Amino acid sequence: MKTQQLISDYTVFDDEMELAANDAELLRLAHEATDNSYAPYSKFHVGAAVRLANGVIVKGNNIENAAYPSGLCAERVALFAAQAQYPDVPVEAMAITARSEITEVTKPVAPCGACRQVMVETEQRSGIPMRIICQGNTGKVFVFDGIETLMPFIFLTKFL
Ligand code: THU
Repeated sequence: MKTQQLISDYTVFDDEMELAANDAELLRLAHEATDNSYAPYSKFHVGAAVRLANGVIVKGNNIENAAYPSGLCAERVALFAAQAQYPDVPVEAMAITARSEITEVTKPVAPCGACRQVMVETEQRSGIPMRIICQGNTGKVFVFDGIETLMPFIFLTKFL
């Protein structure tokens, strides 16, 4: 018996000004997407923006429902919309942000496990690593190069 570690590398930027222009623009669009969020219950407005290999950007936002599990996270809204409209175009990058009516969101948003699982399969279909750019409403930006850095030891289609 032995203990092993799961180690992930990611890059921390002090703010969006440090990002390359295309990543900064993707993040800006994710912030913009929070304006379409429907979050009357949590008051937590999440925005996502997906950049495709053809240069198209698809936005998504969380959509809640009085029957709580019927709602969906911003990340999956964006990824599913992208796949529905551009089924064969690889996803290059996704930016995720949030703002709250209750608290200041100053730490980067961590996508939920279900969204990460969807990102894994999106990346496998795309055949290229997905760059994941996370920020709160303000503050530091975390960048993960490839979903396995965010979700190591993941369930993959090849297991089936
Ligand atoms: N939410 C997202 O949209 N993305 C995440 O990664 C985590 C949570 C949404 C779901 C719900 O509408 C609200 O944030 C509070 O959980």
